[in-house]
This record gives sequence, structure tokens and C-alpha cells, in this order.
Amino acid sequence: MAIILAGGTGTRVGLDIPKQLVKIAGKPIIEHTIIAFSQSSLIDEIIILMTPGYLDPVHAILKAGNYQKVTQVLEGAGPGGTRNDTTQLALAALGDQECNVLLHDAVRPLVSQTIIEANIAALQEYQAVDTAIASADTIVQVDGQLSGGVRVGEDQPVISDVLPRALLRRGQTPQSFRLSVIRKAYEFANHDPDFTATDDCTVVLRYLPDVPIAVVNGHERNMKITEPIDIYLADKLFQLTSADTPAELDDDQYRAALEGKVMVVFGG
Ligand code: CTP
Repeated sequence: MAIILAGGTGTRVGLDIPKQLVKIAGKPIIEHTIIAFSQSSLIDEIIILMTPGYLDPVHAILKAGNYQKVTQVLEGAGPGGTRNDTTQLALAALGDQECNVLLHDAVRPLVSQTIIEANIAALQEYQAVDTAIASADTIVQVDGQLSGGVRVGEDQPVISDVLPRALLRRGQTPQSFRLSVIRKAYEFANHDPDFTATDDCTVVLRYLPDVPIAVVNGHERNMKITEPIDIYLADKLFQLTSADTPAELDDDQYRAALEGKVMVVFGG
């Protein structure tokens, strides 16, 4: 079962509608995500958790596209809550029968079948699975909150540590679990007054430390639309494929798409 987390408002994108309803490549972002999971023969059911007040547009998308695997559209946590609150609302809506759940950000519309399949394959051996990619950037730890620009000021953060890049990965989604495992992890989390997280694997890591979390390969194109520029970039990526087919290009095909655009500077 796939759970599409769409309960946020997209403050950083900063439009007057939640970013998951913005159209790219002819369809709302969330519709591309629904299509990706609908197309997987390994996904039997999809539930969607949407920003309160915006369920009608989702129902309209489902009706027009006849996406029959979607069985429930529920309210997510919305502006007053966190992504983890939305996950918990989803878990509460499921029955007691054990199953695999793939939790996915609605705003990662370029998730590929390869990534979905890798998550489900890993669940045959593991009870928790993350999707991640290597980091091209060096990751630095700072001693304060980044406050915006690079202007030196009183609240200017300074580096407290530089972590070894080869050991670091950037977490994406899906994050996938046996239902009973992710439920149990949240039960513990709910008894911890200091609980904070920005994803679901952290909850398992912290509260069920004996449960190993497998990591499967994500991809750069499985980007999270977070800032305004990401809408532009995702739209460009969709242009490389058909609007109805989530991107499945490999690196060679991306190279081929550059044909004619690469200026040869050094001749032989
Ligand atoms: N999400 C959610 N419920 C929340 C917050 C986020 O379901 N209360 C979902 C978002 O809809 C998105 C995914 O989690 O699909 C990743 O979150 P993020 O990119 O941070 O989305 P927003 O919270 O909408 O963005 P912002 O932080 O800029 O407001």
C-alpha cells in the first residue's frame, strides 16, 4: 500500500495554494505522483493525506483520471501540524492487518518504478527501508539556525563539524515499513515529550534501535519540490519524458539528451 503525504502547505514555495496542486508538465504535481504509484503492479492500494480545505481538488483529479487504486482521501495535519502528524493520521486510518506501507512525499512526482520496486524488494528481508542518494555536496554541521542570506550578523552560524561525505546519504522517499513496525515506533515516539523528526525512518531508528533500516538507491531526479526553483527544474525533467510516464531515463539517456548542447572546448 502506498501512502501519499500531501498534508503540507508549501510555505517555502510561497504560492497561495499548496505546492502539490501546482501544474507541471500539464498535470498537478500530486497527480504525477498518483500516476507513478498507480502504474506499479506491486501497489494494490493508495491513500492520500491532503491539506485540510483542499480535498475537493484531489477528488476532482481522481474523478477525471479514474485512478482506481486510490481508496481514501483524508485530511493531513495541515499548517498546524508536522509531516509526522500526517503520517500518524494515515496509520490511524489503516486496519489491523499486517501489510507493507510505502510512505511517499506528494511533492516527489518523479519517483521511478525502479525506486518503488527496490523498496518493495527490500521489504522481503527488512522491516524498514529508506531511499537515499549520495551527496554531491559536502555536508557541514553548524552551531545555529541558518537565518537566510550570507550576511554576517549576530546570528551568523559557524561550522561545528564537517561530516565525512563518503558516509553520508541524502534521504528521499519512499520510506517503507511493515505496518506493525512503523506503528510501534510512533507509539514510543508519542510518549517522548522531546520527540522531533522530519521523516519516518528517524522514528524507527530512535525508538526501535534493534530494527535495521535498509537503504535502497534513490535518484537525483526523485527531487523534492521545496523551493520555487524546484518547480522549474521538475518541469524541465518532465520534458525529457512523456507527461504520462514518470521518468525512467538512465544516465546514458540523460547524456544523450544533451546532444548538441555540449560545447567542445578542448579539441584533439
Ligand atoms: N507534509 C504533510 N503534512 C505536513 C507537512 C508536510 O503531509 N504537515 C508533506 C508535504 O505535503 C510534502 C511532504 O510532506 O508532500 C514533504 O514536506 P515539505 O516539502 O516540507 O512540504 P511542506 O510542509 O508543504 O513545505 P514547507 O515546509 O515549505 O511549508
